[in-house]
Amino acid sequence: MEVPLRRWPKYAPAVLGCFVASVFAQTQDLPALRTQGAAQQLIVHGTPFLILGGELGNSSAGTAGQADEILPKLARLHFNTVLMPVAWDQLEPQEGRFDFSIPDHWIDTARQQNLHLVLLWFGSWKNAFSEYAPDWVLSDTRRFPREISADGTPLEILSPLGEGTARADSRAFAALMHHLRAYDAAQQTVLMVQVENEIGFLGVGGRDRSDSANRLFQAPVPAELSSDLGAHRERLAPEIAAHFNSDGRTWQQMFGEHADEAFMAWEYGLFANQVARAGKAEYPLPMYMNAQLPAPFEQGGEYPSGGPYPLVQAIYRAAAPSVDFYAPDIYWPDFAAWVDRYQAAGNPVFVPEARLDEAPGNALYAYGEAGALGFSPFAVDSISDDPAHPAASPGIADVYAALSPIIQTILDAQEKNQIRGLVLHATSARPAQTVSLGGFLFRASLSRTWPARQLATNDGAMMVIENAPNEFLVIGSGLTVSILRDPDVDEQVAGIASIEQVSNVKGQWVTERRLNGDQSDQGRSLQMDAHELRTYRVRLITYPRR
Ligand code: DGJ
Repeated sequence: MEVPLRRWPKYAPAVLGCFVASVFAQTQDLPALRTQGAAQQLIVHGTPFLILGGELGNSSAGTAGQADEILPKLARLHFNTVLMPVAWDQLEPQEGRFDFSIPDHWIDTARQQNLHLVLLWFGSWKNAFSEYAPDWVLSDTRRFPREISADGTPLEILSPLGEGTARADSRAFAALMHHLRAYDAAQQTVLMVQVENEIGFLGVGGRDRSDSANRLFQAPVPAELSSDLGAHRERLAPEIAAHFNSDGRTWQQMFGEHADEAFMAWEYGLFANQVARAGKAEYPLPMYMNAQLPAPFEQGGEYPSGGPYPLVQAIYRAAAPSVDFYAPDIYWPDFAAWVDRYQAAGNPVFVPEARLDEAPGNALYAYGEAGALGFSPFAVDSISDDPAHPAASPGIADVYAALSPIIQTILDAQEKNQIRGLVLHATSARPAQTVSLGGFLFRASLSRTWPARQLATNDGAMMVIENAPNEFLVIGSGLTVSILRDPDVDEQVAGIASIEQVSNVKGQWVTERRLNGDQSDQGRSLQMDAHELRTYRVRLITYPRR
């Protein structure tokens, strides 16, 4: 069924109601997002699932055969989920003729390796550009119009205003989801789908200047958008709220200096919604969109203007109800700040792309402090598992090796709000950070040498889980952690009863080493290994001040 881009038929609510009811009846057990206590988690086969993920490089899933080498390696490296591109030009090389052989082989291979997949739909846009659209789309600029830059230059970027483009993209995506339902609904190897990739307008002026875009930009803001924003003022990002004029008629009047970006967000959001809606009608897996984040001082157009990042998320919520959530690709230094901003905007925390070199600490922060349902550094197929060329230590594979046996503990702790995390760098604004958990304050600073007291590492991170009353699992490296009683709880004094370095063997904790004397600073702090990721079990005592 083709759905018009801008208008809903009058009978839509009734039809939609029946449709939702029947889909629900058939799909109660499909992967879904659910709020579980303090956490928003991904539910797979009825139980929470934690994505220990990694995204493939762009040229790593263009053939079926690449799966045979890459997936076994990632399974050996303790990944449980791989994010892989599905390219429109390979899926539909001729209009209406689909070839599912590549995703099918990746799914088969993932199953053999006990891995899950998240599919990335590289449709009309990937990093704002349209390189992954099929030739028959790219060569027909009348049916599939392009964007125009402010200086009049035609861009090699499809316009979100192209109704033919939205129909063709939606049809291809729906075909993929239809096929997936038949191929995978029973096993659910594929957990979620990303709709497009880092969309937004890249070009001078931050807005498409084609005639049709200019006409719509001068026209009144659509009533659906203004009434939705009016009803949900709390969703507006502070930067938009500061200029927002609900009485404004035009984009300029309503959004002031953010008008261009707001306009592009609405147009891209409508397009993405049409794609996601068509896909969900076939197979309603959770669907999200990722965003390229602006670097400091970048202007819209230097980064993809109107992409789905928090500045304009309220507009996406109005335009794209079929998209479940939004996710940041974090390559900039302020990882925690971006995670927090997405979480504050109501998203479950899922980081589909992040720097591989900083992944170990950021993973501990994401799962521990932000309750992430998944984390996934980029280009993970480049990690070596060749003992002759070992990967940097600790690497993301070390983190996943430590977390794999305790996934259920982490999920339970996220649900009960009994987990924290932090990450510190030599360049961090503050030399120490503190998290509060289970009646104690864990104050961490970077490991130092003794007796010179110089920094022993530039990076440290930890995840702390309340395992039992007064007992904590601390997973990390590169930190010295002093532990104090939280004065907001009572006036007791905290002491360390024992610190053990442990590993989990077939569900049982095995003590590898007890840390005493010089290794616990005479019982005063947890001294992590400066470079190797370890799991420590810390037992604490409290006693009265007098
Ligand atoms: C973000 C994109 O989403 C990825 O596909 C990739 O291009 C990285 N940037 C950078 O390599």
